[in-house]
Amino acid sequence: MPLRRRLVIGVLTVMATALVVVGLATFLALRSWMTDQIDTSLTQGKARFFTEADDRSHPEEALQTWTTSGASLVVLSPDGQATGETFAGDTTPRHYSAADARTLATMSTSASAGPVTIELEALGSSRAVAVPAIDGRTATPVTLVAFIPLSRTSKVAGRLVIVELVTISLALLMMALIATWFVRRSLRPLQEVADTASEVASLPLERGDVAIPARVPNPIPTTEVGQVGLAVNAMLDHIESSLQTRADSEDKLRRFVSDAGHELRTPLAAVRGYAELMRRGAGSDPEQSLVAAQRIEAAANRMGLLVEDLLLLASMDEERPLSRDAIDLLALVEDTVAEAATAGPEHEWAAEGPERVITVVGDAVRLHQAVANLLANARAHTPEGTSVITTVGISDSLAYVEVRDNGPGFPDDLLPRATERFARGDASRSRATGGSGLGLAIVKAVAEAHGGSLEVGNDYGGTGAVIRLSLPLQD
Ligand SMILES: Nc1ncnc2c1ncn2[C@@H]1O[C@H](COP(=O)(O)OP(=O)(O)O)[C@@H](O)[C@H]1O
Ligand SMILES: [Mg+2]
Repeated sequence: MPLRRRLVIGVLTVMATALVVVGLATFLALRSWMTDQIDTSLTQGKARFFTEADDRSHPEEALQTWTTSGASLVVLSPDGQATGETFAGDTTPRHYSAADARTLATMSTSASAGPVTIELEALGSSRAVAVPAIDGRTATPVTLVAFIPLSRTSKVAGRLVIVELVTISLALLMMALIATWFVRRSLRPLQEVADTASEVASLPLERGDVAIPARVPNPIPTTEVGQVGLAVNAMLDHIESSLQTRADSEDKLRRFVSDAGHELRTPLAAVRGYAELMRRGAGSDPEQSLVAAQRIEAAANRMGLLVEDLLLLASMDEERPLSRDAIDLLALVEDTVAEAATAGPEHEWAAEGPERVITVVGDAVRLHQAVANLLANARAHTPEGTSVITTVGISDSLAYVEVRDNGPGFPDDLLPRATERFARGDASRSRATGGSGLGLAIVKAVAEAHGGSLEVGNDYGGTGAVIRLSLPLQD
Protein backbone atom coordinates (compact mmCIF):
# COMPACT_ATOMS: atom_id res chain seq x y z
CA MET A 1 0.00 0.00 0.00
CA PRO A 2 1.43 3.42 -0.88
CA LEU A 3 2.72 5.52 1.99
CA ARG A 4 0.30 8.26 1.03
CA ARG A 5 -2.77 6.07 1.56
CA ARG A 6 -1.32 4.53 4.71
CA LEU A 7 -0.75 7.97 6.27
CA VAL A 8 -4.29 9.11 5.45
CA ILE A 9 -5.81 5.91 6.83
CA GLY A 10 -3.70 6.24 9.98
CA VAL A 11 -4.79 9.83 10.56
CA LEU A 12 -8.43 8.92 9.96
CA THR A 13 -8.26 5.95 12.32
CA VAL A 14 -6.85 8.07 15.13
CA MET A 15 -9.36 10.79 14.43
CA ALA A 16 -12.32 8.37 14.32
CA THR A 17 -11.26 6.73 17.58
CA ALA A 18 -10.99 10.10 19.32
CA LEU A 19 -14.34 11.30 18.00
CA VAL A 20 -16.12 8.08 18.96
CA VAL A 21 -14.65 8.21 22.47
CA VAL A 22 -15.73 11.83 22.90
CA GLY A 23 -19.18 11.03 21.51
CA LEU A 24 -19.62 8.04 23.79
CA ALA A 25 -18.51 10.04 26.82
CA THR A 26 -20.93 12.84 25.97
CA PHE A 27 -23.75 10.35 25.49
CA LEU A 28 -23.08 8.58 28.82
CA ALA A 29 -22.63 11.89 30.69
CA LEU A 30 -25.86 13.31 29.31
CA ARG A 31 -27.83 10.18 30.13
CA SER A 32 -26.53 9.98 33.67
CA TRP A 33 -27.07 13.71 34.16
CA MET A 34 -30.69 13.45 33.00
CA THR A 35 -31.29 10.39 35.20
CA ASP A 36 -29.79 12.34 38.10
CA GLN A 37 -32.24 15.17 37.43
CA ILE A 38 -35.13 12.73 37.56
CA ASP A 39 -33.79 11.14 40.73
CA THR A 40 -33.36 14.58 42.32
CA SER A 41 -36.96 15.58 41.73
CA LEU A 42 -38.14 12.18 42.98
CA THR A 43 -36.08 12.36 46.19
CA GLN A 44 -36.93 16.03 46.71
CA GLY A 45 -40.64 15.14 46.64
CA LYS A 46 -40.02 12.26 49.00
CA ALA A 47 -38.07 14.51 51.41
CA ARG A 48 -40.84 17.09 51.43
CA PHE A 49 -43.33 14.38 52.11
CA PHE A 50 -41.38 13.24 55.13
CA THR A 51 -40.74 16.69 56.66
CA GLU A 52 -44.43 17.34 56.57
CA ALA A 53 -45.12 13.80 57.57
CA ASP A 54 -45.59 14.15 61.32
CA ASP A 55 -49.29 13.82 60.77
CA ARG A 56 -48.82 12.41 57.28
CA SER A 57 -50.92 15.30 56.11
CA HIS A 58 -50.55 18.14 53.64
CA PRO A 59 -48.58 16.12 51.16
CA GLU A 60 -49.69 18.64 48.53
CA GLU A 61 -46.30 20.29 48.37
CA ALA A 62 -44.61 17.00 47.78
CA LEU A 63 -47.27 16.03 45.32
CA GLN A 64 -46.70 19.27 43.50
CA THR A 65 -42.96 18.79 43.39
CA TRP A 66 -43.53 15.40 41.90
CA THR A 67 -46.25 16.27 39.49
CA THR A 68 -44.63 19.44 38.14
CA SER A 69 -41.54 17.40 37.33
CA GLY A 70 -43.74 15.02 35.32
CA ALA A 71 -44.01 12.27 37.93
CA SER A 72 -46.89 9.86 38.06
CA LEU A 73 -48.23 8.69 41.39
CA VAL A 74 -49.96 5.49 42.22
CA VAL A 75 -51.37 4.36 45.57
CA LEU A 76 -50.73 0.77 46.59
CA SER A 77 -52.95 -0.92 49.16
CA PRO A 78 -51.23 -2.72 52.02
CA ASP A 79 -51.36 -5.99 50.11
CA GLY A 80 -49.48 -4.30 47.27
CA GLN A 81 -52.42 -3.90 44.87
CA ALA A 82 -52.62 -0.76 42.81
CA THR A 83 -55.86 0.91 43.78
CA GLY A 84 -56.03 2.66 40.48
CA GLU A 85 -56.04 5.98 42.24
CA THR A 86 -53.55 8.35 40.71
CA PHE A 87 -52.52 11.94 40.99
CA ALA A 88 -50.91 12.73 37.77
CA GLY A 89 -50.77 14.25 34.38
CA ASP A 90 -52.14 12.92 31.17
CA THR A 91 -49.62 10.21 30.62
CA THR A 92 -50.50 8.22 33.68
CA PRO A 93 -52.60 5.21 32.80
CA ARG A 94 -55.64 4.52 34.97
CA HIS A 95 -55.24 0.81 34.70
CA TYR A 96 -52.18 -1.33 34.93
CA SER A 97 -51.65 -4.67 33.41
CA ALA A 98 -51.13 -7.64 35.68
CA ALA A 99 -47.37 -7.55 35.05
CA ASP A 100 -47.17 -3.84 35.82
CA ALA A 101 -49.17 -4.36 38.98
CA ARG A 102 -46.70 -7.01 40.09
CA THR A 103 -43.80 -4.70 39.37
CA LEU A 104 -45.40 -1.89 41.33
CA ALA A 105 -46.17 -4.26 44.19
CA THR A 106 -42.47 -4.93 44.65
CA MET A 107 -42.07 -1.23 45.39
CA SER A 108 -44.13 -1.42 48.60
CA THR A 109 -41.38 -3.53 50.19
CA SER A 110 -38.67 -0.97 49.35
CA ALA A 111 -40.49 2.05 50.63
CA SER A 112 -37.50 3.61 52.40
CA ALA A 113 -34.96 3.17 49.56
CA GLY A 114 -33.83 5.72 46.94
CA PRO A 115 -35.00 5.82 43.33
CA VAL A 116 -34.77 2.55 41.36
CA THR A 117 -35.41 1.74 37.74
CA ILE A 118 -38.51 -0.31 37.03
CA GLU A 119 -39.86 -1.66 33.76
CA LEU A 120 -43.55 -0.93 33.15
CA GLU A 121 -45.30 -2.27 30.09
CA ALA A 122 -47.43 0.85 29.97
CA LEU A 123 -44.60 3.43 30.19
CA GLY A 124 -41.36 1.63 29.51
CA SER A 125 -38.35 2.19 31.80
CA SER A 126 -39.04 4.52 34.68
CA ARG A 127 -37.32 5.74 37.81
CA ALA A 128 -39.48 5.22 40.87
CA VAL A 129 -39.55 5.90 44.64
CA ALA A 130 -42.01 4.57 47.17
CA VAL A 131 -43.24 6.45 50.31
CA PRO A 132 -45.36 4.99 53.16
CA ALA A 133 -48.54 7.04 53.64
CA ILE A 134 -51.99 6.93 55.29
CA ASP A 135 -55.15 6.87 53.23
CA GLY A 136 -56.98 9.93 54.63
CA ARG A 137 -60.45 8.54 54.04
CA THR A 138 -60.07 5.02 55.28
CA ALA A 139 -57.17 5.77 57.68
CA THR A 140 -55.38 2.66 56.39
CA PRO A 141 -51.65 2.65 55.66
CA VAL A 142 -50.88 2.68 51.96
CA THR A 143 -47.72 3.01 49.84
CA LEU A 144 -47.36 5.93 47.50
CA VAL A 145 -45.22 5.20 44.41
CA ALA A 146 -43.93 8.14 42.39
CA PHE A 147 -42.27 7.41 39.05
CA ILE A 148 -41.03 9.32 36.08
CA PRO A 149 -40.66 7.52 32.71
CA LEU A 150 -37.17 7.55 31.19
CA SER A 151 -38.63 7.87 27.71
CA ARG A 152 -37.70 11.57 27.43
CA THR A 153 -34.11 10.81 28.49
CA SER A 154 -33.89 8.04 25.92
CA LYS A 155 -35.32 10.33 23.27
CA VAL A 156 -32.82 13.12 23.99
CA ALA A 157 -29.94 10.64 24.19
CA GLY A 158 -31.08 9.08 20.90
CA ARG A 159 -31.15 12.50 19.27
CA LEU A 160 -27.65 13.15 20.60
CA VAL A 161 -26.43 9.89 19.10
CA ILE A 162 -27.83 10.82 15.69
CA VAL A 163 -26.33 14.32 15.84
CA GLU A 164 -23.01 12.81 16.89
CA LEU A 165 -23.01 10.24 14.12
CA VAL A 166 -23.71 12.88 11.49
CA THR A 167 -21.12 15.29 12.91
CA ILE A 168 -18.45 12.56 13.21
CA SER A 169 -19.09 11.41 9.65
CA LEU A 170 -18.83 14.95 8.31
CA ALA A 171 -15.71 15.63 10.37
CA LEU A 172 -14.10 12.41 9.10
CA LEU A 173 -14.98 13.25 5.51
CA MET A 174 -13.43 16.70 5.85
CA MET A 175 -10.46 15.20 7.65
CA ALA A 176 -10.00 12.70 4.82
CA LEU A 177 -9.96 15.49 2.24
CA ILE A 178 -7.58 17.70 4.25
CA ALA A 179 -5.27 14.80 5.13
CA THR A 180 -5.13 13.62 1.51
CA TRP A 181 -4.29 17.10 0.31
CA PHE A 182 -1.74 17.66 3.05
CA VAL A 183 -0.01 14.29 2.71
CA ARG A 184 0.10 14.59 -1.06
CA ARG A 185 1.62 18.06 -0.74
CA SER A 186 4.19 16.94 1.87
CA LEU A 187 5.23 13.89 -0.14
CA ARG A 188 5.53 15.63 -3.50
CA PRO A 189 9.27 16.39 -2.94
CA LEU A 190 9.80 12.65 -2.39
CA GLN A 191 8.36 12.05 -5.85
CA GLU A 192 10.85 14.59 -7.17
CA VAL A 193 13.70 12.66 -5.52
CA ALA A 194 12.44 9.47 -7.15
CA ASP A 195 12.13 11.22 -10.52
CA THR A 196 15.67 12.55 -10.24
CA ALA A 197 17.00 9.12 -9.32
CA SER A 198 15.30 7.44 -12.27
CA GLU A 199 16.48 10.23 -14.57
CA VAL A 200 20.06 9.57 -13.46
CA ALA A 201 19.52 5.81 -13.78
CA SER A 202 18.66 6.28 -17.44
CA LEU A 203 21.81 8.30 -18.22
CA PRO A 204 24.47 6.58 -20.36
CA LEU A 205 27.33 7.01 -17.88
CA GLU A 206 29.56 4.18 -19.08
CA ARG A 207 31.24 6.23 -21.79
CA GLY A 208 31.65 9.66 -23.27
CA ASP A 209 30.32 12.72 -21.49
CA VAL A 210 30.04 11.96 -17.78
CA ALA A 211 28.02 15.05 -16.82
CA ILE A 212 25.00 14.32 -14.57
CA PRO A 213 22.69 17.31 -15.06
CA ALA A 214 19.78 15.93 -13.01
CA ARG A 215 19.34 17.34 -9.48
CA VAL A 216 16.47 17.33 -6.98
CA PRO A 217 14.97 20.82 -7.48
CA ASN A 218 15.15 23.23 -4.50
CA PRO A 219 15.32 20.82 -1.55
CA ILE A 220 14.31 22.54 1.70
CA PRO A 221 16.92 21.61 4.35
CA THR A 222 14.52 21.99 7.29
CA THR A 223 12.28 19.12 6.16
CA GLU A 224 13.14 15.43 6.26
CA VAL A 225 12.28 14.94 2.62
CA GLY A 226 14.35 18.04 1.82
CA GLN A 227 17.30 16.47 3.60
CA VAL A 228 16.89 13.35 1.49
CA GLY A 229 16.94 15.61 -1.57
CA LEU A 230 20.08 17.39 -0.35
CA ALA A 231 21.78 14.09 0.35
CA VAL A 232 20.87 12.81 -3.11
CA ASN A 233 22.22 16.01 -4.68
CA ALA A 234 25.44 15.76 -2.69
CA MET A 235 25.77 12.14 -3.79
CA LEU A 236 25.22 13.12 -7.42
CA ASP A 237 27.82 15.91 -7.14
CA HIS A 238 30.26 13.40 -5.74
CA ILE A 239 29.52 10.78 -8.39
CA GLU A 240 29.80 13.38 -11.13
CA SER A 241 33.16 14.70 -9.97
CA SER A 242 34.49 11.19 -9.34
CA LEU A 243 33.41 10.03 -12.79
CA GLN A 244 35.00 13.16 -14.25
CA THR A 245 38.25 12.44 -12.44
CA ARG A 246 38.19 8.86 -13.69
CA ALA A 247 37.39 9.96 -17.23
CA ASP A 248 40.23 12.49 -17.06
CA SER A 249 42.73 9.95 -15.85
CA GLU A 250 41.56 7.47 -18.48
CA ASP A 251 42.03 10.17 -21.10
CA LYS A 252 45.46 10.89 -19.74
CA LEU A 253 46.40 7.23 -19.82
CA ARG A 254 45.12 6.85 -23.37
CA ARG A 255 47.13 9.87 -24.47
CA PHE A 256 50.16 8.54 -22.60
CA VAL A 257 49.94 5.18 -24.35
CA SER A 258 49.45 6.71 -27.77
CA ASP A 259 52.32 9.20 -27.20
CA ALA A 260 54.55 6.35 -26.09
CA GLY A 261 53.58 4.44 -29.24
CA HIS A 262 54.45 7.43 -31.40
CA GLU A 263 57.73 7.86 -29.60
CA LEU A 264 58.70 4.25 -30.27
CA ARG A 265 57.68 4.44 -33.90
CA THR A 266 60.64 6.54 -35.08
CA PRO A 267 63.46 4.38 -33.67
CA LEU A 268 61.57 1.24 -34.77
CA ALA A 269 61.36 2.59 -38.31
CA ALA A 270 65.09 3.30 -38.18
CA VAL A 271 65.85 -0.22 -36.98
CA ARG A 272 63.66 -1.71 -39.71
CA GLY A 273 65.20 0.50 -42.40
CA TYR A 274 68.81 -0.21 -41.50
CA ALA A 275 68.09 -3.89 -41.05
CA GLU A 276 66.63 -4.02 -44.56
CA LEU A 277 69.63 -2.11 -45.89
CA MET A 278 71.96 -4.66 -44.31
CA ARG A 279 69.95 -7.59 -45.67
CA ARG A 280 70.09 -6.20 -49.22
CA GLY A 281 73.75 -5.27 -49.35
CA ALA A 282 75.00 -7.54 -46.61
CA GLY A 283 78.73 -8.15 -46.73
CA SER A 284 79.27 -6.13 -49.93
CA ASP A 285 80.33 -2.96 -48.12
CA PRO A 286 81.68 -3.55 -44.60
CA GLU A 287 81.87 0.18 -43.91
CA GLN A 288 78.18 0.67 -44.76
CA SER A 289 77.26 -2.34 -42.67
CA LEU A 290 79.10 -0.89 -39.72
CA VAL A 291 77.25 2.43 -40.02
CA ALA A 292 73.94 0.57 -40.29
CA ALA A 293 74.75 -1.53 -37.24
CA GLN A 294 75.71 1.59 -35.29
CA ARG A 295 72.43 3.30 -36.24
CA ILE A 296 70.48 0.23 -35.19
CA GLU A 297 72.28 0.21 -31.89
CA ALA A 298 71.59 3.91 -31.35
CA ALA A 299 67.91 3.44 -32.13
CA ALA A 300 67.76 0.46 -29.77
CA ASN A 301 69.46 2.53 -27.06
CA ARG A 302 66.90 5.29 -27.50
CA MET A 303 64.08 2.81 -27.24
CA GLY A 304 65.74 1.31 -24.18
CA LEU A 305 65.95 4.70 -22.48
CA LEU A 306 62.37 5.48 -23.38
CA VAL A 307 61.15 2.14 -22.06
CA GLU A 308 63.14 2.70 -18.83
CA ASP A 309 61.49 6.12 -18.41
CA LEU A 310 58.04 4.70 -19.13
CA LEU A 311 58.52 1.89 -16.61
CA LEU A 312 59.77 4.37 -14.03
CA LEU A 313 56.75 6.63 -14.53
CA ALA A 314 54.40 3.65 -14.42
CA SER A 315 55.89 2.49 -11.14
CA MET A 316 55.55 6.03 -9.71
CA ASP A 317 51.91 6.04 -10.84
CA GLU A 318 51.33 2.85 -8.92
CA GLU A 319 52.29 4.77 -5.75
CA ARG A 320 54.30 1.92 -4.37
CA PRO A 321 55.90 2.88 -1.04
CA LEU A 322 59.39 4.39 -1.47
CA SER A 323 62.33 3.40 0.68
CA ARG A 324 62.85 5.95 3.44
CA ASP A 325 66.57 6.54 3.99
CA ALA A 326 68.04 9.64 5.60
CA ILE A 327 69.86 11.37 2.76
CA ASP A 328 72.50 14.11 2.96
CA LEU A 329 71.12 16.25 0.16
CA LEU A 330 74.28 18.27 -0.56
CA ALA A 331 76.42 15.12 -0.81
CA LEU A 332 73.93 13.57 -3.24
CA VAL A 333 73.90 16.75 -5.37
CA GLU A 334 77.69 17.05 -5.38
CA ASP A 335 78.01 13.45 -6.62
CA THR A 336 75.46 14.00 -9.34
CA VAL A 337 77.07 17.26 -10.49
CA ALA A 338 80.43 15.51 -10.65
CA GLU A 339 78.91 12.87 -12.93
CA ALA A 340 77.32 15.57 -15.09
CA ALA A 341 80.67 17.35 -15.34
CA THR A 342 82.26 14.17 -16.64
CA ALA A 343 79.49 13.69 -19.20
CA GLY A 344 79.43 17.35 -20.28
CA PRO A 345 82.90 18.86 -20.04
CA GLU A 346 81.93 21.70 -22.41
CA HIS A 347 79.64 23.24 -19.75
CA GLU A 348 80.70 24.91 -16.51
CA TRP A 349 79.37 23.07 -13.47
CA ALA A 350 79.13 24.21 -9.86
CA ALA A 351 77.45 22.83 -6.71
CA GLU A 352 76.75 25.15 -3.76
CA GLY A 353 75.31 24.60 -0.33
CA PRO A 354 75.40 25.72 3.31
CA GLU A 355 77.85 24.44 5.93
CA ARG A 356 75.20 22.58 7.87
CA VAL A 357 74.02 19.18 6.70
CA ILE A 358 70.58 19.17 5.10
CA THR A 359 68.91 15.82 5.55
CA VAL A 360 65.81 14.62 3.76
CA VAL A 361 64.08 11.26 4.02
CA GLY A 362 63.46 9.30 0.86
CA ASP A 363 64.66 7.05 -1.89
CA ALA A 364 68.27 7.90 -2.75
CA VAL A 365 68.16 6.20 -6.17
CA ARG A 366 65.06 8.10 -7.27
CA LEU A 367 66.33 11.45 -5.94
CA HIS A 368 69.64 10.93 -7.70
CA GLN A 369 67.74 10.18 -10.89
CA ALA A 370 65.67 13.38 -10.49
CA VAL A 371 68.70 15.64 -10.01
CA ALA A 372 70.49 13.87 -12.86
CA ASN A 373 67.51 14.55 -15.14
CA LEU A 374 67.68 18.28 -14.31
CA LEU A 375 71.42 18.40 -15.01
CA ALA A 376 71.00 16.39 -18.22
CA ASN A 377 68.45 18.95 -19.37
CA ALA A 378 70.82 21.79 -18.58
CA ARG A 379 73.42 20.05 -20.71
CA ALA A 380 71.11 19.03 -23.56
CA HIS A 381 69.07 22.20 -23.95
CA THR A 382 71.77 24.89 -23.57
CA PRO A 383 74.72 25.73 -25.80
CA GLU A 384 78.27 24.78 -24.92
CA GLY A 385 79.96 27.01 -22.40
CA THR A 386 76.78 27.61 -20.41
CA SER A 387 77.36 27.71 -16.68
CA VAL A 388 75.06 25.51 -14.58
CA ILE A 389 74.87 26.28 -10.87
CA THR A 390 73.18 23.78 -8.56
CA THR A 391 72.27 25.15 -5.13
CA VAL A 392 71.10 23.20 -2.08
CA GLY A 393 69.35 25.16 0.69
CA ILE A 394 66.38 25.55 3.01
CA SER A 395 63.46 27.86 2.32
CA ASP A 396 60.10 27.97 4.11
CA SER A 397 61.20 24.94 6.15
CA LEU A 398 61.58 22.90 2.94
CA ALA A 399 64.85 21.63 1.56
CA TYR A 400 65.43 22.55 -2.06
CA VAL A 401 67.73 21.75 -4.96
CA GLU A 402 67.82 24.56 -7.50
CA VAL A 403 69.41 24.12 -10.92
CA ARG A 404 70.04 27.44 -12.64
CA ASP A 405 71.74 28.05 -15.98
CA ASN A 406 72.36 31.09 -18.14
CA GLY A 407 71.23 29.42 -21.35
CA PRO A 408 68.23 30.36 -23.49
CA GLY A 409 65.65 29.24 -20.91
CA PHE A 410 62.37 27.46 -21.63
CA PRO A 411 60.46 28.49 -24.75
CA ASP A 412 57.49 30.65 -23.64
CA ASP A 413 54.87 28.34 -25.12
CA LEU A 414 56.40 25.29 -23.43
CA LEU A 415 56.86 26.78 -19.96
CA PRO A 416 53.32 26.22 -18.61
CA ARG A 417 53.32 22.54 -19.61
CA ALA A 418 57.02 21.73 -19.38
CA THR A 419 56.47 19.13 -16.65
CA GLU A 420 53.78 17.25 -18.59
CA ARG A 421 54.58 13.89 -20.11
CA PHE A 422 56.06 14.05 -23.62
CA ALA A 423 56.15 17.86 -23.48
CA ARG A 424 59.31 19.23 -25.07
CA GLY A 425 60.56 22.11 -27.11
CA ASP A 426 60.54 21.76 -30.89
CA ALA A 427 64.30 22.23 -31.01
CA SER A 428 64.75 19.13 -28.85
CA ARG A 429 62.53 17.08 -31.13
CA SER A 430 64.71 17.64 -34.16
CA ARG A 431 67.95 17.24 -32.25
CA ALA A 432 69.38 13.76 -32.51
CA THR A 433 70.15 13.66 -28.79
CA GLY A 434 66.76 15.06 -27.84
CA GLY A 435 64.97 13.17 -25.12
CA SER A 436 61.43 11.94 -25.18
CA GLY A 437 59.96 14.74 -23.05
CA LEU A 438 59.61 12.50 -19.98
CA GLY A 439 62.55 13.91 -17.98
CA LEU A 440 60.76 16.69 -16.11
CA ALA A 441 57.63 14.53 -15.71
CA ILE A 442 59.76 11.97 -13.89
CA VAL A 443 61.33 14.67 -11.68
CA LYS A 444 57.86 15.95 -10.82
CA ALA A 445 56.59 12.44 -10.03
CA VAL A 446 59.61 11.78 -7.78
CA ALA A 447 59.12 15.14 -6.00
CA GLU A 448 55.45 14.45 -5.38
CA ALA A 449 56.11 10.90 -4.22
CA HIS A 450 58.37 12.43 -1.55
CA GLY A 451 55.70 14.97 -0.55
CA GLY A 452 57.54 17.78 -2.31
CA SER A 453 57.02 19.81 -5.48
CA LEU A 454 58.72 20.97 -8.67
CA GLU A 455 58.77 24.57 -9.93
CA VAL A 456 59.94 25.35 -13.42
CA GLY A 457 60.66 28.88 -14.61
CA ASN A 458 62.93 31.29 -16.43
CA ASP A 459 65.15 33.90 -14.83
CA TYR A 460 67.45 36.72 -15.94
CA GLY A 461 64.65 38.19 -18.00
CA GLY A 462 64.00 34.93 -19.79
CA THR A 463 67.57 34.05 -20.65
CA GLY A 464 68.05 31.13 -18.31
CA ALA A 465 66.13 28.26 -16.82
CA VAL A 466 65.55 27.95 -13.06
CA ILE A 467 64.24 24.64 -11.81
CA ARG A 468 63.59 24.16 -8.12
CA LEU A 469 62.91 20.79 -6.56
CA SER A 470 61.49 21.17 -3.00
CA LEU A 471 61.46 18.32 -0.49
CA PRO A 472 60.28 18.07 3.13
CA LEU A 473 63.09 18.10 5.68
CA GLN A 474 63.74 15.23 8.07
CA ASP A 475 61.94 16.06 11.38
N1 LIG B 1 67.61 23.92 -18.72
C1 LIG B 1 66.77 24.06 -19.74
N2 LIG B 1 66.88 25.13 -20.56
C2 LIG B 1 66.00 25.27 -21.58
N3 LIG B 1 65.00 24.44 -21.88
C3 LIG B 1 64.84 23.36 -21.09
C4 LIG B 1 65.70 23.12 -19.99
N4 LIG B 1 65.27 21.99 -19.39
C5 LIG B 1 64.22 21.55 -20.12
N5 LIG B 1 63.95 22.36 -21.12
C6 LIG B 1 62.87 22.23 -22.11
O1 LIG B 1 61.89 21.44 -21.51
C7 LIG B 1 61.54 20.35 -22.32
C8 LIG B 1 61.14 19.20 -21.47
O2 LIG B 1 62.22 18.65 -20.78
P1 LIG B 1 62.24 17.14 -20.45
O3 LIG B 1 60.95 16.81 -19.82
O4 LIG B 1 63.46 16.80 -19.66
O5 LIG B 1 62.23 16.46 -21.88
P2 LIG B 1 63.46 16.16 -22.83
O6 LIG B 1 64.70 16.59 -22.10
O7 LIG B 1 63.38 14.71 -22.99
O8 LIG B 1 63.19 16.91 -24.06
C9 LIG B 1 62.77 20.10 -23.12
O9 LIG B 1 62.41 19.49 -24.35
C10 LIG B 1 63.30 21.49 -23.34
O10 LIG B 1 62.69 22.12 -24.45
MG1 LIG C 1 65.31 15.81 -20.33
